[in-house]
Amino acid sequence: YRVLVLMGGSSSERAVSLSSGQMILEALDPSRYDAVGADMDALFYLASQHLVSLSETGVSLPGLEWLEKQRQRLLPASAVVRPDVVFIALHGRNGEDGRVQGLLDLLGIPYTGSGVLASALAMNKHLSKQLFRADGLPIVPDIAVVRGKMPSLTSLLEDITAQWGGLPVFVKPNEEGSSVGCTLVERPEQLETAIETAHCYDALALIEPYVSGTEITVGVLEHPETGDVEALPVVEIVPRSTFYDYDSKYTMGGSEHIIPARLPAEVLSKAQQVATRCHMLLGCRGMSRTDLIVANQEPLILEVNTIPGMTPTSLLPDAAASAGISFAELVERLIRCALR
Ligand code: DAL
Ligand code: MG
Repeated sequence: YRVLVLMGGSSSERAVSLSSGQMILEALDPSRYDAVGADMDALFYLASQHLVSLSETGVSLPGLEWLEKQRQRLLPASAVVRPDVVFIALHGRNGEDGRVQGLLDLLGIPYTGSGVLASALAMNKHLSKQLFRADGLPIVPDIAVVRGKMPSLTSLLEDITAQWGGLPVFVKPNEEGSSVGCTLVERPEQLETAIETAHCYDALALIEPYVSGTEITVGVLEHPETGDVEALPVVEIVPRSTFYDYDSKYTMGGSEHIIPARLPAEVLSKAQQVATRCHMLLGCRGMSRTDLIVANQEPLILEVNTIPGMTPTSLLPDAAASAGISFAELVERLIRCALR
């Protein structure tokens, strides 16, 4: 199979994506896969080729002739041949959010992971949590603050006190990953800057209560033959810093992954049920990883990731390994799911 590993991209998680992509490329057995890694220009190149091929079916589009003349010269990805499958190793905006998935649907090229709707929903923490709550699942609540429509700080602080008894809170952009733009707010005077920081990344900032408890994550994988989904062992995350921020995520030794998490069996099984339900409810495909906080023995949903990190310090590969699935097998399973 010809596999194109899409990596890099334009989101704030570009570096994470390059690292995931490199791991994936290295894991693909060259005797079975003809794999190349490429950035987004390769995708646009494939789209331009698709457009040119339309002219061969008699469809006439303005600019096609120009495009045909220019494409070899303009696009450095001209070495890219139409792949049998695209492994999307992009994280965050314009990669994990359904946009790339939609373009690949239009091009008729199979790809790993979730489709348009599941990707877009999961990227939107606020909306997906509303869906989970409507389904009776336990979530970490939030107050959403729209950029340019910020209520007074006094009323926000009153709200925070009324709902959660006061600070600390986390302030984060609605659609971001890897804790980018996320601030732990412990004192009232930190709140405004934290919201402004989140608004640098997204028009919607979320204020969530700081839930003191055990941070866990649960991977869910689809079976490449049967399509059944199964939850992987629960991973407990112990960051070295105050919270599981960017540095503790991607520095070697920045955090400890304990598998299975040190929680009662009923709580572990509840967390796996919740993650599986989230996966099904959003309509995810191939894989997902649900992040939760366990407080008073109850796992509360923080968010679902449809393209979890595959870097050397990432969580899903560790969870898979503890279930006897090597990194190479994980990558291969995802490709088989995409081609199913
Ligand atoms: N957003 C990063 C890649 C993760 O969830 O692993
Ligand atoms: Mg995420």
